[in-house]
Amino acid sequence: LDNGLADTPPMGWNSWNQFYCNGGNGLTAAALMNVADEIVEKGLQEVGYEYVVLDDCFQNGRDANGVLKVDPTRFPNGIKPVADYVHSKGLKFGIYSVPGTKTCANLYNGYTPNIGSYGHEQIDAETFAAWGVDYLKYDWCYPDGSLNLTKQQAFSKMRDELAKVDRDIVYAISEYGDSAPWTWAEPIANLWRTTGDIAPNWGSITSIIDRQAELHPYSGPGHWNDPDMLQFSNGSLTYAQNKSHLAMWSMLAAPLFLGTDVGALSDAEVALLTNKELVDIDQDPLGEQARRISNGEGLQVWTRELADGDLAVALLNTTGSSATVSTSLGALGAQDDVYVVRDVWSHSDLYNTAAAISATLPAYETAVYRLSAGMDEHLPGVVGASGSGRV
Ligand code: DGJ
Repeated sequence: LDNGLADTPPMGWNSWNQFYCNGGNGLTAAALMNVADEIVEKGLQEVGYEYVVLDDCFQNGRDANGVLKVDPTRFPNGIKPVADYVHSKGLKFGIYSVPGTKTCANLYNGYTPNIGSYGHEQIDAETFAAWGVDYLKYDWCYPDGSLNLTKQQAFSKMRDELAKVDRDIVYAISEYGDSAPWTWAEPIANLWRTTGDIAPNWGSITSIIDRQAELHPYSGPGHWNDPDMLQFSNGSLTYAQNKSHLAMWSMLAAPLFLGTDVGALSDAEVALLTNKELVDIDQDPLGEQARRISNGEGLQVWTRELADGDLAVALLNTTGSSATVSTSLGALGAQDDVYVVRDVWSHSDLYNTAAAISATLPAYETAVYRLSAGMDEHLPGVVGASGSGRV
């Protein structure tokens, strides 16, 4: 969407995968403010995590004027003080609605109808702006008979109302990738989900990665494919799997939203998430999503070009055993004869290559390299004769 926003993929935290609809000690104003504190304390803000997004389950019907009311137990003073607090930390605030009459959560918590934005697009856009909202996640739920609009029309309606309010609001839509939104959503939204909901297990992560393989032509500044949130401490993911999850989301120029308890992240997990060299790949201004250039026996090679002419390369071992993953400058489509291979995890230049790039990876691991044209004579590889790249 050409609204001057989301030039690079948005980054932050979203409440859904941590709290779902849970009240009590779950989704409350205090919890959200605490997340804002944690994002700052853990150094996540410093590398770019900035949006605190309140997902479904804050609503409580509408007042006589049609203005959304807010759950008084969870948000006793409304939403604005929470957004103000988030802003006071130098962060941004996001919220959630749907083009239908009820939100998805209505399915199981019995929330009243008419809390979706159907027929209330203008007043909701104005309310969100007045609350200090900087990001709206608009989720395809309850497009029941009354809606009578195509997806494109329904999502465009809210886009148009957001454009009228005096506030910059990033517009994220989801219809779970069901009607190939990448083919139609570029003029409508800043990002769109490409699949159903992610789950915190390796099968879900790899199937979402597979879904992205053909989608690289559709992503770019202002309009991103969204493979859903980062799971990290949730579920059964191991450290290596988290590492690959993050590496691949960064290669894919994916929005990086933590869908997890920030306070529970281990130091090692925080170190992964704040790896500036990796975040720089995700946030590269060219905004090119990686393409998969090989995929055999669960061993994958992905590459993307970066704004300064460097190439980012990921060697991904999706299997449960150690394996060697290899590629070559030719396969990557590299234009120059010799490149320095830099390891993004260890922050070190490894070798010069004029041909092969290869790594032996433990189960579920991903190597991420940044390749710069030229050679460094202090490094091994390509000494003397040309074309003899060392691996
Ligand atoms: C479905 C979305 O995919 C989730 O991320 C979350 O927003 C829920 N709806 C909320 O009901």
